[in-house]
Amino acid sequence: MELVGFLGVTMLWVKAAHVIFVIFLMAGLFMMPRFFVYHHQCAVGSDEDRVWIEREDRLRKIILNPSIILVWILGLMLAFNGDYWREGWFHAKFLLVLLLSGYHGWLIGYFKKLKRGLRPLTEKQLRMLNEVPGVAAAAIVILVVVRPF
Ligand code: HEM
Repeated sequence: MELVGFLGVTMLWVKAAHVIFVIFLMAGLFMMPRFFVYHHQCAVGSDEDRVWIEREDRLRKIILNPSIILVWILGLMLAFNGDYWREGWFHAKFLLVLLLSGYHGWLIGYFKKLKRGLRPLTEKQLRMLNEVPGVAAAAIVILVVVRPF
């Protein structure tokens, strides 16, 4: 296997680390809206409400935020290493990754609303939004592995 770019053989380790943190990130992105659905089912200000706020806060601080930072750093290293900036599959992947990061930001914003006692969405809407990360991840993996264009 030919390994070019400034990372040399280290590129495989960077790619492995990238995929590992992608898995942690995706786990968090799948869990958070599930937590929101359960959180919605308890009364504002109840003990249960406080327990869900605590769980969501920990998921945000321990899994979601560190993973997204590492996925971005490692992903950008791979992008510069391979110099993919003019390739179609990479443009499409980058767009989807930006959308997924926007979704991440939205989840954190929704958590802050729940913490303030607000419940802007219905459970059904939350369940539907839960489809976003799965569809985006499937498309991203196809783009990056198959590189169809
Ligand atoms: C956050 C910004 C991201 C950037 C800049 C980025 C960039 C890249 C690049 C350039 C590669 C190709 C490395 C190469 O083969 O030369 C790669 C590999 C990969 N990325 Fe990302 N990525 C990002 C986020 C993600 C996300 C969110 C996912 C999944 C949901 C993902 C999944 C993958 C996978 C599975 C591979 C390995 C593909 C293979 O085996 O060749 N990446 N990434």
